[in-house]
Amino acid sequence: MAAADHRQWITVGDTGALAKAAADRLMARIDANEARIAICLTGGSSPKQLYALLATEAYRDRIPWDRVHWFIGDERCVPPADPLNNMAMARKIFLDAYAPSSNIHPIPTDAASPDESAERYARALKSFYGADRLEDARPLFDLVLMGVGPDGHTASIFPDYPALNEAERWVVGVPKANVEPFVPRVTLTLTALASCREMLFEAAGHDKRAILARVLGGEPLPANRARSHGETVWLVDQAALPENFRGE
Ligand code: 6PG
Repeated sequence: MAAADHRQWITVGDTGALAKAAADRLMARIDANEARIAICLTGGSSPKQLYALLATEAYRDRIPWDRVHWFIGDERCVPPADPLNNMAMARKIFLDAYAPSSNIHPIPTDAASPDESAERYARALKSFYGADRLEDARPLFDLVLMGVGPDGHTASIFPDYPALNEAERWVVGVPKANVEPFVPRVTLTLTALASCREMLFEAAGHDKRAILARVLGGEPLPANRARSHGETVWLVDQAALPENFRGE
């Protein structure tokens, strides 16, 4: 099944409102599932405020930590202690204080190559999912968080890179990044990321305005091709809104 074409655009005032809207959507996904929950986090700076909010009493006390599993959509090939490591950032801000370590699923960065890391993470995801093939009726993730880079990349899927068209594999190695930090990456593919009930993009600040104008212009950028089989939602603050914004 093709991913749904429809996207919802939600605009909010500022980064504080954006983090709160994202946290509330994350809680709604948690509340909607009484069984095991899988959330795929993202790296970069955009989700930091959201992660900090999840650590506050208002949210952390409502999260059933024993039932929520935390994954990451892409990783930079640096050791876990490196500040550039995406999962380390999430761990430091909120996960390590509240989530059981067996529920935190980082992409391994100690493998011999990004491809080997990717294979190991694909095996871990398939074991968690309980099958080698994704079924539309049973999404891999409840929620996938995403960001958009200045070149239109999302996760570590860069424009015109082979990862963009990967239809079979769930995770691939990316030997060279298109933007800083220029370290090899490992990324979930659009195929794996699409298998979710909701894909939630966060874009805030004036720096995102130019790329959002291109996204809304319909360019076939990775961030434009990333769609959930369920809901795809873009949360955008006023500063990031292109002048001609009319939603979709
Ligand atoms: C990464 C990210 C990447 C990020 C975008 C946006 O590893 O860098 O996962 O896809 O989401 O580059 O980054 P910012 O939020 O820092 O703008």
